Amino acid sequence: MSARRPIPGEGERSKPVTVSAIRNAKGGEPLVCLTAYTTPVAQALDASCDLLLVGDSLGMVVYGLDSTIPVTLDMMIAHGAAVVRGAKHALVVVDLPFGAYQESPAQAFRNAARILAETGCGAVKLEGGAVMAETINFLTQRGVPVLAHVGLQPQSVNALGGYAARGKQAAEAEAIVADARAVTDAGAFAVVIEGVVAPLAARITSTIRVPTIGIGASAECDGQILVTDDMMGVTFGHVPKFVRRYADVGGSMKAAAEAYAADVRARRFPGEEHLYGAPKPKVAAG
Ligand code: KIV
Repeated sequence: MSARRPIPGEGERSKPVTVSAIRNAKGGEPLVCLTAYTTPVAQALDASCDLLLVGDSLGMVVYGLDSTIPVTLDMMIAHGAAVVRGAKHALVVVDLPFGAYQESPAQAFRNAARILAETGCGAVKLEGGAVMAETINFLTQRGVPVLAHVGLQPQSVNALGGYAARGKQAAEAEAIVADARAVTDAGAFAVVIEGVVAPLAARITSTIRVPTIGIGASAECDGQILVTDDMMGVTFGHVPKFVRRYADVGGSMKAAAEAYAADVRARRFPGEEHLYGAPKPKVAAG
């Protein structure tokens, strides 16, 4: 096994993680990344994570939308600011939503600048490979740190026709490698690789000089990310193959709601201890 370089700041978990620390974590201890959309969830995850992503997955996870396409810049800014308020340690990265950056580098800069200024986050993420290289270069040259996202790109679901894993065919695999190289050369400080066959993710990781962060990718990636609601078991229904469930928060919420309903219906709640101005229980003399 190769010797692993620790990520700078490791062991001092209260120190804020910087973009440079993430970039320099290539080949080091794997980066721990999760999504967050609210202040209390950010507070709960912060100390365990190097990076918190305010992903546009919030459209589906929080708002019950069918895809990430309808997510707006204002939604991303509201949730980004909430997460920044809850994070003292992890680097907070906010997704640029669909339609907020694809038109031109200038449009991407204008909207990324709003995200940085109005949320206080440390970087933005955008989907796309070689086609986005010019935009990533434009942003990074102007002070906007960019986390790139290649492989399966959920914002392109209408063009791709679904969420199936990418890179099974040689030509598609080569295109994804070229995408990862292009976004790295354009200045991305790290690259999310989503939904690709494992050997391809491992190959990209050994090819590019910035960290790869995998989701449905490979254990060889320089870091891992999951949608928090998936790994915590908040969401019901289909669990994607690449998710490991670490809790059953949805099940606990259901059980708590059932217990509350039973207490209310049986007049067991509220109890004396929850009431204002209720007569104090008498202490027996003696
Ligand atoms: O939107 C999101 O949560 C993401 C992660 C799945 C990487 O892009």
